[in-house]
Amino acid sequence: MMAKELTILGIESSCDDTAAAVVRIDGARGAVLSSVVEGQTSLHAPFGGVVPEIAARAHAERLDSCVAQAMAQAGLGFDGLDGIAVTSGPGLIGGVLSGVMLAKGLAAARGLPLMGINHLAGHALTPRLTDGLEFPYLMLLVSGGHCQFLIVHGARKFTRLGGTIDDAPGEAFDKIAKLLALPQPGGPQVEQQAVLGNARRFAFPRPLLDRAGCDMSFSGLKTAVLRTRDAIIAEKSGLTVQDRRDLCAGFQAAVADVLAEKTRRALTDYLALNPAQPAFAVAGGVAANQVLRRGLETVCATMGAAFFAPPLRLCTDNAAMIAWAGIEMHRTGGSPAEDLIARPRWPLDASAAPMIGSGKKGAKA
Ligand code: KG4
Ligand code: ZN
Repeated sequence: MMAKELTILGIESSCDDTAAAVVRIDGARGAVLSSVVEGQTSLHAPFGGVVPEIAARAHAERLDSCVAQAMAQAGLGFDGLDGIAVTSGPGLIGGVLSGVMLAKGLAAARGLPLMGINHLAGHALTPRLTDGLEFPYLMLLVSGGHCQFLIVHGARKFTRLGGTIDDAPGEAFDKIAKLLALPQPGGPQVEQQAVLGNARRFAFPRPLLDRAGCDMSFSGLKTAVLRTRDAIIAEKSGLTVQDRRDLCAGFQAAVADVLAEKTRRALTDYLALNPAQPAFAVAGGVAANQVLRRGLETVCATMGAAFFAPPLRLCTDNAAMIAWAGIEMHRTGGSPAEDLIARPRWPLDASAAPMIGSGKKGAKA
């Protein structure tokens, strides 16, 4: 069936990336006409974490120009759009409000339909934009603020199989980098150090592997790395280059083992319910890690599931995923206006137990 051509402007401002993008669907597959992302890493760097007030102000200052750039790069005027999609949660409320207010103004001025999008749905639906993946599939969303397994049944229907009960892996990578005096964001730094490290020198814990199900925990692992670091410093009054590499390698190997084993369990549960659709997709900034990714690919290969990972620029926070989710919403009807309250918290699966301790970093997804 040929879908009607639709062109949607997406706007994202829920954490520390200000983003706008135009996505068009013509036939079955979407095309990203433009995707502009302005990060705020340098603004928050002196504070060691995202400062909500600074983020909100930066979004308010930059959103207009991001939208203008996205429209210009797509070569479109507002009359070329069929609608506007904006992240309306979950996230830092000041930033979300900046985006929602801008989108409401634009939609009213141009007479365009407006859709409020769940940021997590944006991530979870991305493999359909990039790979045309059919429903259902299993998704691992793994980023600086989130870590959860979701069965994606449809654009509006998700089942949460499990997730972290404390830190997200990206957050743990960032904290490990901090305690080893490596720059932020920590993930790529720790991965780079780990390449030359011995992952077997330290026996770090694999938290919650002894417990059934696919919940995860990373905060005890972080403490174990901290204690080991302190013990080395107490003994030798400092860390050598090799100590740092070994600590990074040991930590990364522990995260890789936990993610791989929990993915194996989530896939087992998923495949029992959906044997005809053996598909697994990963999204979020942590999916950039080659070691973790290889671990997940191996699990999928062993279990006969196809592995999908969107290209990194669409894996990390961006507005193309929001525009795409808008296309999915538009195509499936419903009453989008209802979703247009800015929400700091907004679980995709309202029936799942609330996640303990999630969103400490400001619900960054
Ligand atoms: O998805 P993302 O850009 O932002 C959100 O959290 O929404 O993910 C950023 C997180 C950061 O915590 C960063 O350290 C982590 O992803 N990250 C990595 C790698 N690249 C980015 N973690 C591990 N290995 C990497 N190569
Ligand atoms: Zn995100």
